[in-house]
Amino acid sequence: MSAPTGRDAFASNLGAFAATVGSAIGLGNIWKFPYLTGSNGGAAFVLTYLLAVALVGIPVMAVEHVIGRKMRLNAVHAYRSVVPGQPFWSAIGWVGLVSAILIMAFYTDVAGWVFAYVFKSLGAFVSGSTLTPETFGALAGGTWEPLFWQVAVLGLTMGIIAAGVSKGIEKVTKRLMPLLFVLLIVCDLRALSLPGAFAGVEYLFAPDLSKLTGPVLLAALGLAFFKLSLGMGTMTTYGSYLPEQTRIVPNAARVALADTLVSLLAGLAVFPAVFAFGCTPAGGPGLLFNTIPLVFAKMPMGGLFTVLFFLLAAIATIGAMVSLIEVPVAWLVEKGHVRRPVAAMITGAFMLALGVPATLSQSPVLADVKVFGMTFFDLFDFLSSNVFLPVGGLAIAIVGGWLVSRDAFKKELNKGYAAEPWHGRAVYGFVRFVAPALILLILLNSLGVLRLA
Ligand code: PHE
Repeated sequence: MSAPTGRDAFASNLGAFAATVGSAIGLGNIWKFPYLTGSNGGAAFVLTYLLAVALVGIPVMAVEHVIGRKMRLNAVHAYRSVVPGQPFWSAIGWVGLVSAILIMAFYTDVAGWVFAYVFKSLGAFVSGSTLTPETFGALAGGTWEPLFWQVAVLGLTMGIIAAGVSKGIEKVTKRLMPLLFVLLIVCDLRALSLPGAFAGVEYLFAPDLSKLTGPVLLAALGLAFFKLSLGMGTMTTYGSYLPEQTRIVPNAARVALADTLVSLLAGLAVFPAVFAFGCTPAGGPGLLFNTIPLVFAKMPMGGLFTVLFFLLAAIATIGAMVSLIEVPVAWLVEKGHVRRPVAAMITGAFMLALGVPATLSQSPVLADVKVFGMTFFDLFDFLSSNVFLPVGGLAIAIVGGWLVSRDAFKKELNKGYAAEPWHGRAVYGFVRFVAPALILLILLNSLGVLRLA
């Protein structure tokens, strides 16, 4: 995310696209998408996810960008001012702050595993060995080791934020994204050439609609929000940096497309390998870590590819974390008049306070402590993706579709066009009716108020 003060804009349309993609792409693609697909039964989940991105994700991203660019303010202040006289809607910004902290609590744990795997895969490459599921089990289920990596990752990100060099880091991240893309394709080709790989492709793309249950629908919707960084103000802030001439709908559609492509490529690396090696698709959060080293093992230079894969994943992770932490930091700096390093420290303290229990809930220390039947790790993940982000997204769609005047909304949405394009009209309809209705139905369904599936 760009500097929190001053309303400087991205320099070009391409810059706007790259920055938005930079926030969207992260652990959500390479870690969460395969893991959730595996634990929710495969292709039926993928299909629901794709529909959620198209029918809900793109419209909500359009609203966030419209409101951000129209108000040119941080999220809390943007929602407060966009519907004058109704300060209630600034709650969207507040919920966003809480979501950022909850997400970071488990995101830093997983990012810690990725960083640890950079070094572990390097060690394995040098010694000529392969990382096994036991390696992952010992890491994630340990006590001090995962904590060490989590604190290191959080410290690194805080340092970047405090030093105010996020923009520099974002540039590096963006340049390396295409490399991650290429490496994923190498990984796919390798995985697809394994004997028995086709079962993985079927698992990913041949839907068994009987697998569509209420929790699967909610998980797919939640992932769409998480993936596209929606429902918590991140994209509103990005909107406030969009150049005037950026065409909001095509930009959002391209971001969604690029992001979804990366997720599918990650899925195509993981699932063929899962079936070829006889692992279980429902392997949980460790799925990525257990399959990638196996995919590359025995391939010429495979050890080196594994190191490169985790290194690029680590770099993508930093970009997403910077964009997550900026939400509370930017607000603290603007609202609380504290300096960036102080804001970074305060935010970091909150994130660590929740992050430590999330990490330890994977180890014997806190594994037995359950809230609503979930470990802290699962609880924070569930609360953010499946409750706060969809509720935030619903409120955002209501603000955009019903509370902002139609003319003002459309004027901002269709900037860059001489006359209203067909997709401008379509997206507005989706913002008003389709997106809020679908979010509401899925939320009510998950509460048992309604029976969809
Ligand atoms: N979209 C990021 C990912 O998929 C995570 C994220 C969520 C970033 C919300 C910012 C805001 O990894």
